[in-house]
Amino acid sequence: MRIYITGVSQGIGKALALELLNNGATVIGIGRKNTIEHACYSFVQCDLNDLNALQKIHFEVDEDGAVLINNAGIIGPLTRVSDQDQESLLSVMTVNTLAPMLLCQQFLKQISPKKRAVIVNISSGAANRPIPSWASYCASKIAIDRFSETICLEEVEKGRNLAVYSVAPGVVDTPMQSVIRSADPEHFSSLNTFQELFKNKELTDPSEVAKKLASLLFMPFDGKVIRSVREI
Ligand SMILES: NC(=O)c1ccc[n+]([C@@H]2O[C@H](COP(=O)([O-])OP(=O)(O)OC[C@H]3O[C@@H](n4cnc5c(N)ncnc54)[C@H](OP(=O)(O)O)[C@@H]3O)[C@@H](O)[C@H]2O)c1
Repeated sequence: MRIYITGVSQGIGKALALELLNNGATVIGIGRKNTIEHACYSFVQCDLNDLNALQKIHFEVDEDGAVLINNAGIIGPLTRVSDQDQESLLSVMTVNTLAPMLLCQQFLKQISPKKRAVIVNISSGAANRPIPSWASYCASKIAIDRFSETICLEEVEKGRNLAVYSVAPGVVDTPMQSVIRSADPEHFSSLNTFQELFKNKELTDPSEVAKKLASLLFMPFDGKVIRSVREI
């Protein structure tokens, strides 16, 4: 199975790429920076802010099928929308929503409908509730949830052998969480919650999340698109 993963330089994406490589998969990383060396790994350099650059990504399939994991994401400035510039808001929606949507579209067009295909979009619990100073992030993740559900129904209508998931990974100990913990309390009212979670060692290790996400790829698809990693 050929597995394409975005955002593999650190955090959940890197842990997942390593987990899959250790299990014998062929992994193609897509992102700005490469930090993985492995015989079964290749890397396509691409800044997901550049939607035109996505067109250079060509998805290929092998006898077992192909997988696309849209993992790359940014939290954006930890300030209220009225205190941000337009560019920051656009970047969150581009990296977290538009780039994954376009990659899903390209993947579905390029992979033969006769082959097994799996799409995993990494969402967030922030899709389910408003968090002040995360407005564009919350919006970007609920959009990807609904997009995932809808493309799944569309491809069922076409009779395709496809599984689509939009997975909230929980609170995971990655560089994104350290960025969140270093926010200015004047601008981010939930700061204390995230600092307490860290202090109480309530963050999940990326390697644990990676194991669960990897197992999802090989499970029979029951039609449930939106999931929390806790359910896997
Ligand atoms: N950590 C959590 O608690 C948590 C909770 C809920 C959801 N999530 C979601 O899980 C996913 C992974 O998060 P993480 O915590 O592992 O974050 P992270 O540690 O910040 O890593 C994010 C990854 O995305 C890549 N990326 C960011 N902007 C990019 C761009 N413009 N083009 C290409 N790649 C880009 C980064 O690569 P560079 O090295 O190029 O920056 C990095 O590899 C995200 O979608 C996030 O929203 C995380």
